[in-house]
Amino acid sequence: MTRAMIGVIGGSGLYQMDSLTEAEEHIVETPFGRPSDVVVTGKVNGTQVAFLARHGKGHRLIPTEIPYRANIYALKSLGVRYLISVSAVGSLREEICPLDMVLPDQFIDLTKHRISTFFGNDTVAHVSMARPVCPMLSDLLAQAIESQNFTDLKLHKGGTYVCIEGPSFSSVAESHWYRSMGANIIGMTNMPEAKLAREAQISYATLALATDYDCWHPKEEHVTADIAIANLMKNAEHAQSVLSSAISLIDQKRPISIAHNALNSSLVTPLAAMS
Ligand code: ADE
Repeated sequence: MTRAMIGVIGGSGLYQMDSLTEAEEHIVETPFGRPSDVVVTGKVNGTQVAFLARHGKGHRLIPTEIPYRANIYALKSLGVRYLISVSAVGSLREEICPLDMVLPDQFIDLTKHRISTFFGNDTVAHVSMARPVCPMLSDLLAQAIESQNFTDLKLHKGGTYVCIEGPSFSSVAESHWYRSMGANIIGMTNMPEAKLAREAQISYATLALATDYDCWHPKEEHVTADIAIANLMKNAEHAQSVLSSAISLIDQKRPISIAHNALNSSLVTPLAAMS
């Protein structure tokens, strides 16, 4: 099967990569079942990439139903070492306007019904999630965004993404609570994706696309799926050009990531006991 060093998980609004040539679809079987959809491999400006639509084609899976372990396992088995997670988010801060891009560097995991580890069943490891996003990968995304010279959106480097279970949006009280925790953006899918990527020793960074002000803002409309989707359609096009540029940069630099050795200091079960 074709291998790819760079993976892209496309969230709401990003169900394919426009710049992908020589595309091949792979039905990948994993010990955790099938991923959200076929994995599409192909080339972007000569660089081999693996793309997966997180919610499946036609947006069939709610966040709770996404097979996170199968998704990460499938990408790892195709050789992915760098993973860009494109994700729609709500803004919890005045300065992050709908259509802006955010490169979060922290997560708060408030999910409730998801298996968030590959470990267990006789194998114990505790990976560090102190720095859940790979700073070098995120920096390359920042360079890619800046190279586009967008005039209609701002880039926000850093910030905390709070991940809720969904699929319902938050109450006003919850939205204020997340703000009081210091969260900057809100979404439903980056956990446990980021944890599993770290366990799989894959460098992970999120390109977050702001679609709405959730429901804390006194003057803005409370988020609905219609508002979020309308804005997503607008920024999906921007995301496509950022991805093409980021993929070339990652291929040129191939940074060593903290994630690539994540298990060196994390395995509790001695390797000899794992057969
Ligand atoms: N995705 C996009 N907007 C969101 C919001 N307000 N809450 C949770 N997930 C979102």
